[in-house]
Amino acid sequence: MNTAPPALAPDLVEGLRRLKLAAMRQLAPELLITAKTQRWTPEELLRTLVEAEITARDASNARTRLKTAAFPVTKTLDQFDVAVSSIPPATLDYLASLEWIPAQENLCLVGPAGTGKSHILVALGIAAVEAGHRVRYFTAADLVESLYRGLADNSVGRVIDSLLRNDLIIIDEVGFAPLDDTGAQLLFRLVAAAYERRALGIASHWPFESWGRFLPEHTTAVSLLDRLLHHSQVVVTNGDSYRMREARKRGGNPPIKP
Ligand SMILES: Nc1ncnc2c1ncn2[C@@H]1O[C@H](COP(=O)(O)OP(=O)(O)OP(=O)(O)O)[C@@H](O)[C@H]1O
Ligand SMILES: [Mg+2]
Repeated sequence: MNTAPPALAPDLVEGLRRLKLAAMRQLAPELLITAKTQRWTPEELLRTLVEAEITARDASNARTRLKTAAFPVTKTLDQFDVAVSSIPPATLDYLASLEWIPAQENLCLVGPAGTGKSHILVALGIAAVEAGHRVRYFTAADLVESLYRGLADNSVGRVIDSLLRNDLIIIDEVGFAPLDDTGAQLLFRLVAAAYERRALGIASHWPFESWGRFLPEHTTAVSLLDRLLHHSQVVVTNGDSYRMREARKRGGNPPIKP
């Protein structure tokens, strides 16, 4: 029969609580018994307690980073079928290595609807969070909207500074909706501030030569692309929409030809 290990002394419980060593507090009663029965050295006991606290702390920090990243869906690299994607496996391997993030390189994914751009951005973002990086996901529309809000109270600089605390800023769906002059300027300010300082992950339907369609000012479009592409992995996703493939497999007809 399993009996519960004796509780820790109240002063120890209180001390561990004050020091916010929750994992140690929880595991110590059990580990003290194990240490006694298995004749651990005092050092072994201390190490096990410290390691348990570190593991719990890392997991809790990763959960917080994941929440703050605000991914719209959960996608993983394992779920990505390389065989049906136009992305070369070697490119995916490099991206999955995450080396480009501390190197402050950008990733620009360009391709039509349903070809895995958001999947890859989110999956790399989640992998980056798990590797200890701070990540923030936005659609371009949401990003511009939050920068716009900063205009109202003169805090755009502060908003950008706080975004730059992330190691990777993801801007998805660039060009879905056209931007007005101010929106384009705000996007430019962020890209210019992140240039050679932080990694950006971008996805757009539009090939770069068409960015003038949603960036009204030609010089803004040119200066933005210049910074974006200087240190960048450009990945073209083409082929059929994965959504349409799935729909066809289920026996439905696609509503429109891709
Ligand atoms: N190679 C792939 N392997 C597995 N799932 C995929 C693949 N490509 C796309 N998908 C899935 O297909 C759906 C559409 O992909 P995704 O949202 O990444 O497309 P997108 O390129 O961002 O399209 P849009 O431009 O419309 O935003 C998602 O559910 C995604 O997980
Ligand atoms: Mg998408």
